[in-house]
Amino acid sequence: MTRPAHFLTLTDLDARQLRNLLARAIELKRMQRAGERYEPLKGRVMGMVFEKSSTRTRVSFEAGMAQFGGHAIFLSPRDTQLGRGEPIEDSARVLSRMVDVIMIRTFEHDKVERFAACSRVPVINALTDMYHPCQLLADMQTYLEQRGDIRGRTVAWIGDGNNMCHSYINAARLLEFRLRIACPEGYEPRQELLREGSGRIELLRDPLQAAEGADLVVTDVWASMGQEEEQIRRRQAFAAYQVNAAVMAAAGPNALFMHCLPAHRGEEVTTEVIDGPQSVVWEEAENRLHSQKALLELLLLQ
Ligand code: CP
Ligand code: NVA
Repeated sequence: MTRPAHFLTLTDLDARQLRNLLARAIELKRMQRAGERYEPLKGRVMGMVFEKSSTRTRVSFEAGMAQFGGHAIFLSPRDTQLGRGEPIEDSARVLSRMVDVIMIRTFEHDKVERFAACSRVPVINALTDMYHPCQLLADMQTYLEQRGDIRGRTVAWIGDGNNMCHSYINAARLLEFRLRIACPEGYEPRQELLREGSGRIELLRDPLQAAEGADLVVTDVWASMGQEEEQIRRRQAFAAYQVNAAVMAAAGPNALFMHCLPAHRGEEVTTEVIDGPQSVVWEEAENRLHSQKALLELLLLQ
């Protein structure tokens, strides 16, 4: 496979590219920590389109571009013409004549696809309702650093069959791990993704069963951005899907806990677990920076 034109889902990379990217992310982290100056994107500019809130994604991309010697421009719908209804295709045509790479965080996944189709430069999906591939780069880097190759391991996803869960399904296919998903009825991941991942993915109702002997336990908020009105209904539906001490005890003794953050302590995860010894959430958050720098290298320099 040649260099990917865009990064809209994890499957825009093949397994070899993903594995190389993760190894490179670890190397870039070492270089950054050693204070080595490395500015391969001098004079290059990233456009950052945010239609939803963000802390980690914005700061990791902005900091990454600065560390690489480049620059990033934050664009919110509040003060761009996108917010006033300028077509996404026109925005892509214009922005991509001015900047070298564009990341977008939005609602409908087809918006990033339509944007990419009209862009002259690589487009990165920084979260849609369907996928969050950048987060998976960080999660997979973190697992590799802490425990080695994830191939053949078991991952338990406890909670909503949402954008993060969909990206875990893609990661399971590419990196060849088993994924057990425990979610309440009506909150399953998309059928077509389950079909594509069949053989690697198991759908269960019981979180303890999903966690049994797992090497990694992952969860996410019960109500994602854009689902604020469903919050009360979701709190009831997901009450039995909390990652707590019992779930972690069911997992293997070396199991790690991950959460893309922001977390709601006392809802999807207890304080004891997220702030406990098996949790690697801060390392995971930091790795957004390093793995996305590796992604920028792949999209812009290779
Ligand atoms: N995990 C993640 O994407 O965080 P932000 O919403 O803060 O960017
Ligand atoms: N599923 C969450 C992830 C946030 C990083 C959301 O979409 O809001």
